[in-house]
Amino acid sequence: MTKQLTLSVLLAATALTGCRAKPPSKFDTKVVTWTKHHITIGGKKDKNPIEASIDNIDEGKQAFTSYCMVCHGLDGQNTGVPFAATISPPIPSLASESVQAYSDGQLKWIIKNGIFPSGMPPSNGDFSDREMWEMVLYIRHLPKAGSLGEPPVYGGSKDK
Ligand code: HEC
Repeated sequence: MTKQLTLSVLLAATALTGCRAKPPSKFDTKVVTWTKHHITIGGKKDKNPIEASIDNIDEGKQAFTSYCMVCHGLDGQNTGVPFAATISPPIPSLASESVQAYSDGQLKWIIKNGIFPSGMPPSNGDFSDREMWEMVLYIRHLPKAGSLGEPPVYGGSKDK
């Protein structure tokens, strides 16, 4: 992944911090979550063709670290992402029950297509099919929250 792409993602992410809507009610959240899981998000039956080997999970982690960490943190659990909880909708922990309830195919669909109109961008074209499946493996094998430190882009860590 190029530096330029990371930068443009970062800018998009920063723009998101500007739009703070009222937090949705519990009822709204339930309806939205149900609709996403059953209707909006495609790919439910697609199987991950990539084996969950240590090497493949690590490849997924590399791809994730090159891009997604700007919004999701290195650990996929928002560690060190300053706006994760304040944007609307907020950025979920990818280790959460609600995200893990998606099938592998749905997770890949989300990575490929994004979730319109929320802040989750489509990455179609930036990653190969294989890389997207490897990222799904990484999402299924996330490390302990906080164990990878903070994304260097926010000045949290020195090892740039
Ligand atoms: C610009 C910030 C941003 C980037 C970059 C980003 N995401 Fe997201 N992501 C979000 C937001 C915001 C949500 C919440 C969307 C929603 O609930 O509708 C989200 C939600 C998700 C979800 C859960 C969807 C749900 O319905 O709960 C997954 C899985 C996900 N992202 C994976 C990824 C992966 C993998 C990458 C890298 C290829 C990535 N994201 C890059 C902002 C981002």
